[in-house]
Amino acid sequence: MDVALIGPGRLGRSLAILLPAAGHRVLLVGRGEAIPACDLVWITTPDRALEAVARQLPPGVPALHSAGSRGADALAPHAPSGLLHPLMTFPGPELGLPSLAGVGAAIAGDPPAEACARQLAGDLGMVPFPAPREPALYHAAAAIAGNYIPVLLAEAARVLAAAGVSNGTALLAPLAIESLHNAVRAPDRALTGPAARGDLDTLARHREALRAADLSEVSLLADALAERALALTKRSL
Ligand SMILES: NC(=O)c1ccc[n+]([C@@H]2O[C@H](COP(=O)([O-])OP(=O)(O)OC[C@H]3O[C@@H](n4cnc5c(N)ncnc54)[C@H](OP(=O)(O)O)[C@@H]3O)[C@@H](O)[C@H]2O)c1
Repeated sequence: MDVALIGPGRLGRSLAILLPAAGHRVLLVGRGEAIPACDLVWITTPDRALEAVARQLPPGVPALHSAGSRGADALAPHAPSGLLHPLMTFPGPELGLPSLAGVGAAIAGDPPAEACARQLAGDLGMVPFPAPREPALYHAAAAIAGNYIPVLLAEAARVLAAAGVSNGTALLAPLAIESLHNAVRAPDRALTGPAARGDLDTLARHREALRAADLSEVSLLADALAERALALTKRSL
């Protein structure tokens, strides 16, 4: 397929490398550039640009977007159109390309667009599944898993720095990665630590130490997560 990728950002530039490796030709289209003749348009601009780009789409050419928080009809009235949202993080080719083998891809849309989405997802090694009816809820789940785990690691490194230890990210990474592996392997048994042991005294000491170190915002975050950890432990008992 000849695929015009509109939006040469993190996702667009990654796909511009991954799609040719999967047997497709790519034409990367930047802001203000004309959309060339193609079999499919895949829009990878920020969500706020979707409506404007949709107005410039060549009539009748199938078009997809990748804004997970938006529905399949985000490009309406252009038809056929749809959604192809990889459940993966693309930081940009400069930082690295993710492996897409076995990665879920939410797809939806008018039948010809959905068929293109299904084919591209499969050619890239992904496993297509029907996009949920509540896109914002679906995307919130993706953001929590994909975006907030790195935030937690960064916050943990900041706390370690307050304890006088530098290079916290590298030191904490093996612990974080092993916990994540365990959570995938055995979600009901993976949790260790004070919350899993019901050790409220230790959790209280964490809170006091964080506040004494002027890290109240981390303390609030840790409290909220400890509460969820206690609930998870009760559910697993
Ligand atoms: N990155 C990911 O991990 C990921 C994963 C799944 C889905 N997505 C989805 O993919 C979309 C893009 O995300 P991203 O992270 O790649 O964003 P990004 O890095 O900000 O890239 C967006 C690109 O679109 C360009 N652009 C903006 N308006 C345009 C227009 N009217 N015509 C042509 N190009 C235009 C931007 O150029 P300027 O710099 O000139 O503004 C930029 O190069 C979003 O809908 C996002 O939800 C991203």
